[in-house]
Amino acid sequence: MDVIEAMETCIAMRYLKSDPIPEADLQRLIYAATRASSPGNSQGWEFIVLTDSNIKKVIGEAVASGMAPVFENLPDDIDPVSDRMYKGAIHLAENFSNVPAWIIGAARKIYPPHEPSIEFMHSTIYPAAQNLIVAARSMGIGSTFTTFQMVAEDAIRSELSVPEDVHLCFCAAVGYPERSFGPVRRKPLEEVTHWNKW
Ligand SMILES: Cc1cc2nc3c(=O)[nH]c(=O)nc-3n(C[C@H](O)[C@H](O)[C@H](O)COP(=O)(O)O)c2cc1C
Repeated sequence: MDVIEAMETCIAMRYLKSDPIPEADLQRLIYAATRASSPGNSQGWEFIVLTDSNIKKVIGEAVASGMAPVFENLPDDIDPVSDRMYKGAIHLAENFSNVPAWIIGAARKIYPPHEPSIEFMHSTIYPAAQNLIVAARSMGIGSTFTTFQMVAEDAIRSELSVPEDVHLCFCAAVGYPERSFGPVRRKPLEEVTHWNKW
């Protein structure tokens, strides 16, 4: 698949089949993630792959209860697109353990060496995450970039023995899609591009 076509159609896939993804394909996703650029080629990224049912159950319970207040307090006048998105996010959180694999993207604050900064740390992990999502799409695998790790940080750290200096940065759902891939809806170029002056 052409890389632009993969980018155009890698919608957040929140409805996933529970069929397992072969380990070689999960490794290929991480391979793609780790082909990304990083500041000074520092590569301060790490990836935790969750496929074990018991671990997914424990972390899934923490995610579902952590997300519950967010989902319970959604505004009433929500537009149909956001409504669909939240319904999908609720489905994903509540079905955490049925998702065949979750990939947690983690990073260490190591760049620049003389004065490591949180900005450089995030700028390391996000291109890797996008590579992973686009690669998944090209392989016919659905994914959703989430920040579920933020509401379940304690459970993730203790269950997975994550070292203290490792920051948890994203938590991507990975599985075969239950729904069709489709075009991402983004602003037109004219709205976001400035040629030679603002
Ligand atoms: C930083 C970031 C955080 C996100 N967090 C979540 C999340 O917690 N749960 C979720 O279901 N989707 C999450 N998403 C996915 C976006 O909601 C989604 O990509 C966006 O609504 C556009 O939809 P599309 O990718 O299907 O076109 C996140 C995406 C990014 C980049």
